[in-house]
Amino acid sequence: METRIPMVPTPDDAALWHQGALYLADQRGLPQRAEFLRLDSAGAVAEAIRAMVVRGAPAIGVAAAYGVALAGRDAYAAAGPAWKAMVESDLERLAASRPTAVNLFWAIRRMRGLIAELDARDPFPALIEEALAIHAEDRAANRRLGDLGAELIEGPTDIITHCNAGAIATGGYGTALGVIRSAFAAGKVRRVYADETRPWMQGARLTAWELMQDGIPVTLQADGAAASLMAGGSVGWVVVGSDRIAANGDVANKIGTYGLAVLARHHGIRFMVAAPTSTVDMAMSTGAEIPIEERDPDELLGCADRRLAPDGCAARNPVFDVTPASLVDAIVTERGVVMSPTVEKMRALMGEAGSQDP
Ligand code: MRU
Repeated sequence: METRIPMVPTPDDAALWHQGALYLADQRGLPQRAEFLRLDSAGAVAEAIRAMVVRGAPAIGVAAAYGVALAGRDAYAAAGPAWKAMVESDLERLAASRPTAVNLFWAIRRMRGLIAELDARDPFPALIEEALAIHAEDRAANRRLGDLGAELIEGPTDIITHCNAGAIATGGYGTALGVIRSAFAAGKVRRVYADETRPWMQGARLTAWELMQDGIPVTLQADGAAASLMAGGSVGWVVVGSDRIAANGDVANKIGTYGLAVLARHHGIRFMVAAPTSTVDMAMSTGAEIPIEERDPDELLGCADRRLAPDGCAARNPVFDVTPASLVDAIVTERGVVMSPTVEKMRALMGEAGSQDP
């Protein structure tokens, strides 16, 4: 049964492991409705990812890691020493929850690697320790890449961001918003313009909320308003996160990101992608191979539960797009910065074998 706990989350504490369960701030209701959901099975975590209770690539990966720990606990309770045979179906369910954010598959692969090393004894202590480590490492990676990204920004300047790549979308601190937080602390940010991000409104609901909690000046704008703002000359950088970065530096991110990159290049504005290396997928040679999630057209045909489009109207709802590497000025990770990405530079970042394992 679903347990909801009215509790005001802060952006940096939107996922908590507490007394044997995962507590996730339900991002669908924020900022108006602040509630945590208590999840105590892998199936519940998979459903929370599918239903967008938790969203944002690194946060999805962190939640999935806790989900694998819960799967191990349940499998051992049901089957004792034969637990490994039971855990696989839960791992598959987690992997099927959303297709684009590679952090999901990265986290499951890392947990699977640990499972392979374990014996027939209770796996839960080792699995939960690994999930907590994934969570803590993501938070630390974001702090590091936030500082590295901020170093690139000469301020004070205005910045445009798209969707929500903040603390709540990650293990903590945020990727794009991590860069913005660090740059603001260094006196380099005049104002952030947050695209509202149709149809889920992550910018309006989450980015505006996070930045306001941090005291960073933020102005919300319609997604279509970026071009005229750029033409005004106050914007120095577009800073976004990513769901998956291909081996050649092509970047999948929230639908509309590609358009922003084209506009930025036209106006001589620089374009930064901030993401941990768990978002880099060296198995995808280009962005054309990245699976792009298509969601229910109904999300687009109305707004806030109100139907807007005429009955019978067709709609397409791809929720990510791919920005070619040629439009990206900088990919900023915790391992370092790649300027004007190419496959050679991405290989150098990720190591000889192109490994994305930490
Ligand atoms: O559909 P969402 O809300 O999960 O999409 C999220 C994004 O596109 C983010 O920009 C991306 O995951 C980076 S989050 C640090």
